[in-house]
Amino acid sequence: MKRFHKLIALLAVLMMVFSLAACGNNSKSTVGTDTGESTDNTQSSGDAEATTDEASAPSDDLIVVGFSQVGAESDWRTANTESMKSTFSEANGYQLIFDDAQQKQENQIKAVRNFIQQDVDYIVIAPVTETGWDTVLQEAKEAGIPVIIVDRMIDVSDDSLFTAWVGSNFLQEGYNAVEWLAGYLDSKGRAEEPINIVTLQGTIGSSAQIGRTDGFAEKMAAYSNWTMLEKQTGEFTQSKGQEVMESFLKSYDDIDVVIAENDNMAFGAIDAIQAAGKTCGPDGDITIVSFDAVAAAFDAMIAGTMNVSIECNPLHGPRVAEIIQKLDAGETVDKLQYVEEGVFPAETAAEIKPTRAY
Ligand code: AHR
Repeated sequence: MKRFHKLIALLAVLMMVFSLAACGNNSKSTVGTDTGESTDNTQSSGDAEATTDEASAPSDDLIVVGFSQVGAESDWRTANTESMKSTFSEANGYQLIFDDAQQKQENQIKAVRNFIQQDVDYIVIAPVTETGWDTVLQEAKEAGIPVIIVDRMIDVSDDSLFTAWVGSNFLQEGYNAVEWLAGYLDSKGRAEEPINIVTLQGTIGSSAQIGRTDGFAEKMAAYSNWTMLEKQTGEFTQSKGQEVMESFLKSYDDIDVVIAENDNMAFGAIDAIQAAGKTCGPDGDITIVSFDAVAAAFDAMIAGTMNVSIECNPLHGPRVAEIIQKLDAGETVDKLQYVEEGVFPAETAAEIKPTRAY
């Protein structure tokens, strides 16, 4: 429907241009001008101005999608960006305007306002945090632009502010971590032993952090011999994960388990553990439980430094495209779509790795 309105607006502009031409005006119209140049429609949310330059001017034939990405903090995020960029290509009938928010919500809000000004057909947001979206999404709603949320969820007072969401069940991922750890400790004859745990949390306030932290805490309550020594954010990055793990190792000399809320923080933790002269993984001093299941996590499991990675699937491009195609055809879509995810322990890593797409 929105694209239909755009067509009417375009016809009105064309009629105006033709009538000006008929009045002897020699100036050239730029409506629909094909510059012939291929463009990478990446815009920076740091830009103060939200202008539609010719290079990224919406095309009539293509579905124009403005995508506000969290950043490039992890291997997972890189795979997610790649999935979105390869799906929303011109060859597939899209013009993608991609914005990297560098892990800052204020950049995302700026990007969404730019998308509104550029009158894109659809706005897609992978939100950094859950809260703080009401105002800008109200603006998108008033502009008549459907908003699709991908990966993490948002917490808004009015659900009509977004059309659909597709992503992971982060709470379930937290449950999966406890289930795996309980089974593992049992298999090692350590079910009754005191178990000391530290957690490297993701970006505080993101669904991935909230779900994994809460899911783990909820299910861990059933194990009275488990103690959570400390939780601290490593911002989903390898360097911060390493830094926080170094400080945990200085504070506690009896850590049994590290819960890293993504693989990249786990890689940083492994470096910190090894630098401290300790070992980790199936034959090591410290058990490493991680999330994402990216290719490098399989390498770490094969190398014997990581115990398990709980899957979080980043390949959302085709899922978002399916939603857009349905909306464009006037069909209804499910408001919430959860993706199915698995659990990959070290002993399965060598066999599973060749079958993985990221
Ligand atoms: O929201 C998904 C999480 O964000 C992934 O676990 C993490 O690696 C990414 O940065």
